[in-house]
Amino acid sequence: MTEARDSVSRNIVGEDLASMTERLDAVFSKISGDDLLITGGAGFLGYYMVQAPLAWNAANPGLDPVRVTVHDNFLRGVPDWLSNLDDPNLRIVTRSVLDPMPADEPRFDWIIHAASVASPIFYRKYPIETMDANVDGLRMILDSLEERADSDHPVKGFAFFSTSEIYGDPHPDFIPTDETYRGRVSCTGPRACYDESKRYGETLCVNFAQQYNLPIGIIRPFNNYGPGLRIDDGRVLPDFARDVLNGRDIVMLSDGGATRTFCYVADAVTGYYLILGHSADYPGESFNIGTDQPEISVRELADRVTEMGRRLWGYDGKVVVKTSDDPEYLTDNPNRRCPIIDKARSMLGYEPLVGIDEGLERAMLWYEQQDER
Ligand SMILES: NC(=O)c1ccc[n+]([C@@H]2O[C@H](COP(=O)([O-])OP(=O)(O)OC[C@H]3O[C@@H](n4cnc5c(N)ncnc54)[C@H](O)[C@@H]3O)[C@@H](O)[C@H]2O)c1
Repeated sequence: MTEARDSVSRNIVGEDLASMTERLDAVFSKISGDDLLITGGAGFLGYYMVQAPLAWNAANPGLDPVRVTVHDNFLRGVPDWLSNLDDPNLRIVTRSVLDPMPADEPRFDWIIHAASVASPIFYRKYPIETMDANVDGLRMILDSLEERADSDHPVKGFAFFSTSEIYGDPHPDFIPTDETYRGRVSCTGPRACYDESKRYGETLCVNFAQQYNLPIGIIRPFNNYGPGLRIDDGRVLPDFARDVLNGRDIVMLSDGGATRTFCYVADAVTGYYLILGHSADYPGESFNIGTDQPEISVRELADRVTEMGRRLWGYDGKVVVKTSDDPEYLTDNPNRRCPIIDKARSMLGYEPLVGIDEGLERAMLWYEQQDER
C-alpha cells in the first residue's frame, strides 16, 4: 500500500507533457502565434494533443503562443479534463464536423482532423456517424483548404487521422507491415464502417494533395494506450485496468492469441505532431505511427497487467476467459498488428521512447489517480 500512496503523488501527465514539449519544440515553434484547430479534441488522443501545445506555451512565455481550438460534438459529454483546463489560449466549441464552419471562427492556420468514433464497440453502434465524420467531415475541410490555397491566408498544415485498420487482417507475409501494404479488408463486415471510411478518407487526402498541392499528412496510428483513454472506452487495456482497480479477476473476451504492439500515447502524439509539422514537406504521404516491438499477445498483456497490479497494489486476481455478449465482438478482428515505422523514423525523426513495461506502469498509475472505476 505504501507504493499505492506514492503513486498518487507521481505527476504522470506533467512528466509526459514535459517530454513531449521538448521533443516537439521545432514543431510548436513553427505553429507559434498561429491558430490550430483540433476536431474531435475531446477524445483519448485529444487529451495530449490539446495539452501538449498549451504546455509548450507555458514553457516558453517569451514566445507567441499556439492558440488551440477544439471542435467536438461532445456526444459522450464534455470531459472534466477539458472543461477544467483554464487557459486563455484554448477555445472549446460544440460543433459536429458535418455542420458548416461558423462564420466567426478564425481562419485556422493548422488543422488536425481527429473527429471520428474510434472504439469498435461504439462505431458498430454509430456506423453512419462514423463514416460521415471520416468522409463528409473530411471533405468539408479539404474543400476549405483548396478554397484558401491561393488566398493571402492559406492553411499551413493539415493532418488526417486514418488508422492501422486500413490494413485489415494482413496476410502473414506482410507482418510487420509497412505503408506500401494494400490491406486485406472487408467492405461489408461489422468493422467496415470504420476501416473503409478511413481508406476512402486517405484517397480523398492523396488526391487533394496531388491535385491542388496542399499540405496534407496522413496518420496511421497503431494501438495507442495510456493517459486520456477512458476506463469505460471498451478497449482492451482500460478493461483490464478496471478489473485490477476493482480487485476482481481480469476478464479476457477472446482466447488471447491475437498479437499487437502497444504504443504509449505520449510517443504517439509526438509522432502525430511531427506529421502535422511536416505536412507541407510531404504532401499526401501516409505514416505508420506506433512502436515496432515487442509484439505481444493479448494474453501476455493481461499477464503483464496482472503482474503490475500485484507489484503496485498487492492485487491477487487472475486472468479468466469469457465470451462477449456481443456476437460480433471478434468478427474481422485482425490476428496480428505490428508496424514498420522506418518511414516516420527517417523522414520525420520519429522515435518511440517508452517501453511496454514503463508505459503500462504509467497508464495503470494514471487510472488509479482517476475518479472513475
Ligand atoms: N486511439 C487509437 O489507438 C487510434 C488508432 C487508430 C486511429 N485512431 C484515430 O484517431 C482519432 C482520434 O481517436 P481517439 O482514440 O481519440 O477517439 P475518441 O473516440 O476517444 O475521440 C474522438 C472524438 O471525436 C468526437 N467526434 C466524433 N464524431 C464527431 C463529429 N461528427 N463531429 C465532431 N466531433 C466528433 C467524439 O465526440 C470524440 O470526442 C480518430 O479519428 C481515430 O479513428 C485512433
